[in-house]
Amino acid sequence: MSLAASRHYADHIATLQARTATALERGGFDHLVVPSGTLHYQVFDDRDYPYAVNPQFKHWLPLTRNPGSWLVATPGEKPKLVYLQPRDYWHVVPEAPSGYWVGHFDIVVIRKPEDALQHLPKNASRCAILGEPQSALGNYGAYKPNNPQAVIDYLEYHRAYKTPYEVDMMREASRRAVRAHRAAERAFRAGASEFGIHLAYCQAAGQDANELPYHNIVALNEHGAVLHYTELDRLPPKPVRSFLVDAGASHGGYAADITRTYATDTGGEFQALVDAVDKVQREDIGRRFRAGNDYRQIHLYAHLALSNVLRDFGIIKISSEEAVANGVSSVFFPHGIGHGIGLQVHDVAGFAASDSGGTIAKPDGHPYLRLTRMLEPGMVVTNEPGIYFIDMLLEDLKTKGQGDAVDWNRVEAFRPYGGVRIEDDIVVTDGDPINLTRDAFAGS
Ligand code: GLY
Ligand code: MN
Ligand code: MN
Repeated sequence: MSLAASRHYADHIATLQARTATALERGGFDHLVVPSGTLHYQVFDDRDYPYAVNPQFKHWLPLTRNPGSWLVATPGEKPKLVYLQPRDYWHVVPEAPSGYWVGHFDIVVIRKPEDALQHLPKNASRCAILGEPQSALGNYGAYKPNNPQAVIDYLEYHRAYKTPYEVDMMREASRRAVRAHRAAERAFRAGASEFGIHLAYCQAAGQDANELPYHNIVALNEHGAVLHYTELDRLPPKPVRSFLVDAGASHGGYAADITRTYATDTGGEFQALVDAVDKVQREDIGRRFRAGNDYRQIHLYAHLALSNVLRDFGIIKISSEEAVANGVSSVFFPHGIGHGIGLQVHDVAGFAASDSGGTIAKPDGHPYLRLTRMLEPGMVVTNEPGIYFIDMLLEDLKTKGQGDAVDWNRVEAFRPYGGVRIEDDIVVTDGDPINLTRDAFAGS
C-alpha cells in the first residue's frame, strides 16, 4: 500500500473515532462495541449460509471473513480488536492479523468465540453494542446487542459521506468489476448462455457469487425486462439479440454496482436505443450529480430525459411533460434513478433527514426511489436510468385507459430485446463529479 493510501486509512480511522465520540454522547454511552457477526445455519441442518459481516464492523476494518470477532472503540483510546482465530482442523481459519490496518488497533487474539467476553468493557450497560441478536455472549446472552437508535442514526447518516480511504476502496472495486464486465461482453459476443457469461464474469472478477456485493443480473433478450433477473439459463436463446448485465465486485468490504446493455446487431435500432440512454445518462442526467442538488429532482428530471428518448424513438405519442405528469414514463422507467452505495450496495440512511432522525419523503408516485437526500461532497451514489418493455406494466396502461399514449407497433418491435439500463457509480465532490465506473472502463 502506498504512503498516500496508508495516510488515507489513518485519516479514515480518525474520522470514525470522531464520529463515534459524538454518536456515544448522543446515546449516553461510553463505548462502541461491534461484533463482526456469526455464522447462520439452515434449519434442521448443519449447513451454514454464506457469512455476511456486520457492516458496522467492516466500516473500521477490511475484514469480511472473520465471524466471532469484536471491535471496541472508546473515545480517547486506541480502538481494540478482539480477533477470533479458532483452533480448528476442519476449516481454513483466518490468518494471524496482518496488513496496513494492524497498527491502528490494540489486538487480542482469541481461540474460542466466548473468550471475547473477558476482553470487552466490563459494564455492558455503558456500551452501545451494534449487531445481530445471535452475537450475544455470556450467561443467557447477558452481553447482547442493544442497537441504540440515537447511535445508529448518527453513524448511518454520516456513513453517506465517504472518506478518501473509502473512495480508494470503491475505485478498486470498480476496476475489478469492469474487468469482469469486459469478460462478460466477450462471452456474450461468443454466444455463451447466461450461466456461461456469469461464470466468465466471476472468473475475471476473481470472486464467486458469495463474494460479489449482490446477485449478478445476466439477462439475454426479454429477460432484460425483469428488473432483478437472477435466473441463469443454462442454454442460450436462439437468436441472441441483446444482453443486459448488472454486476459488481467487492474490495475491502466496499461495493461496485455497474450495468451495461449490449446489442448483437451493433447497427440496429436497439443499439441506437442503448446509445440514446447512454447519452442522456452521461450528459443530461450525469451533469446534475453535483453538491447542492436534490436527488429527488434528479430522479424526476431523469423521467423527463427518458421520455424525450421514448418520443424520439416513436414509442410514446404524447409529450414528455405529459408522460411524466400522467405516469406513462413510469411504465418504461419503473425504478429509482439510483441509491447511495458503499459498504452495502444499497447504502443505509437514504431517506434520513438529519443525523438525529427524521425522514425525507419520496416524491408522490415514485415509491421505488431509494435516496431522497441532497447531494453533498463525499457521497457516492449511482446513476442508473433505464427503459424497459415490461408486459405487466404495459397491460396496466391499457386497463387504465392510457393505451393511446403509446405506439404499440413500436413497443412490439422493442419487446424482444427486454430493456436498457446503464449504471455508473459517482463520487460527488465540491467540483466536478468523479465517475468511478467510466474511469475504470477508460483505464481497462
Ligand atoms: N444492482 C442493483 C441495483 O442496481 O440497484
Ligand atoms: Mn444500483
Ligand atoms: Mn445495479
